[in-house]
Parts: sequence; C-alpha cells; structure tokens
Amino acid sequence: MSSVAVYPGSFDPFTLGHADIVERAAKIFTELHIVVVHNPNKAPRFSSAERVELIRASLNEIGVKGPAKISIDTLDSGLLVDYCRMVGAGALIKGFRTNVDLDYELPMAQVNRDLASVETVFMPANPEHGQISSSLVKQVADLNGSVSKYVSESVARALTSSAANRKATK
Ligand code: PNS
Repeated sequence: MSSVAVYPGSFDPFTLGHADIVERAAKIFTELHIVVVHNPNKAPRFSSAERVELIRASLNEIGVKGPAKISIDTLDSGLLVDYCRMVGAGALIKGFRTNVDLDYELPMAQVNRDLASVETVFMPANPEHGQISSSLVKQVADLNGSVSKYVSESVARALTSSAANRKATK
C-alpha cells in the first residue's frame, strides 16, 4: 500500500485554501508531493519557479509542516500519472469547493485511474476557504483590493507588485 500522494495544480497563485488542503493531506499520507503543473488551457500570472517559491514561502509563514514529508516540484510536460509513478504515489489529492469543481475533476480522476490505477482523494474545502479561488484573488489584487484574508503575506506582496507592473505596462 502506498502512503505517498501528489497534490497537483496550477497554484497561480497558492491560496490559504490550498494551504489548508496541504495541512490536512499531510496528516494522512507519509509523503506529500505538491506539484505545480503546466496547464496549457491557462495563461499563468507567475512562472512555475515563482509559484514554487510562493508555495514554499506560504507554507513557512503559515507554519505548515509534516507529519508527512512535504516536497514542492514542477511538471512542465507529460502525464501526471507518470510523475506519480516516478515518485511512487498511489493517490492524487484534489480539493473541491462545490459541485462545479467536482464536475471538472471527475473526468480527470477517472482517466488517471484508467491510465495507471492512481486513485484521486477528494477533500472538501474548509467552509472558511470555500469561496477562495486563484482567479478571484488575482482580480481583487488587480483592482487594488485587499487579499490578506485569502493568501499568505508573500503571495499578497507578489500579487501587489504584479498588479502594479501590469498597470505600468498598459
Ligand atoms: O489547478 P488546475 O489548473 O485546475 O489543475 C489542473 C491539472 C494541472 C491538475 C490538470 O490539468 C492535469 O492533471 N494536468 C496534467 C496532464 C495530464 O496528466 N492529463 C491527463 C489526465 S487528466
């Protein structure tokens, strides 16, 4: 039985909702690999390397650690199940807020199971974080709103400077 899990996503950027899932998954599995995956359907605000650094900074700030061994990596191409095979993971972790998230996630869960018998473990969002999404926090930051309730200080700072850069280049 594998006690290794992969938590994949765009994480553009990592929110407190994502951090909550990491914290909970780290209590169930002995190894948790957070993977910033390139999603060709999305134009990311932050580079993969920046997203990894923001995840690392957020987890440090919030004080999220073990008992699982947590690592942060990137996957720029190839199948997620091949990454799972490489690290010996038998499960993928996905957080969901509403049935809209489940409708989006279910086909991927089925395909990943068909491809490599990798199971998907769905974790319901903590109601406190039920309305947070990476797209919404980017929108709020771009319109000069405060995102401090939704993201770590490092991510809030990165969003503020990216919003300022976007305005300067318009
Ligand atoms: O945070 P996102 O953008 O909703 O995450 C989606 C992601 C990156 C997990 C998904 O696009 C994905 O699994 N990509 C990897 C490519 C892959 O393995 N595709 C085939 C099976 S779904």
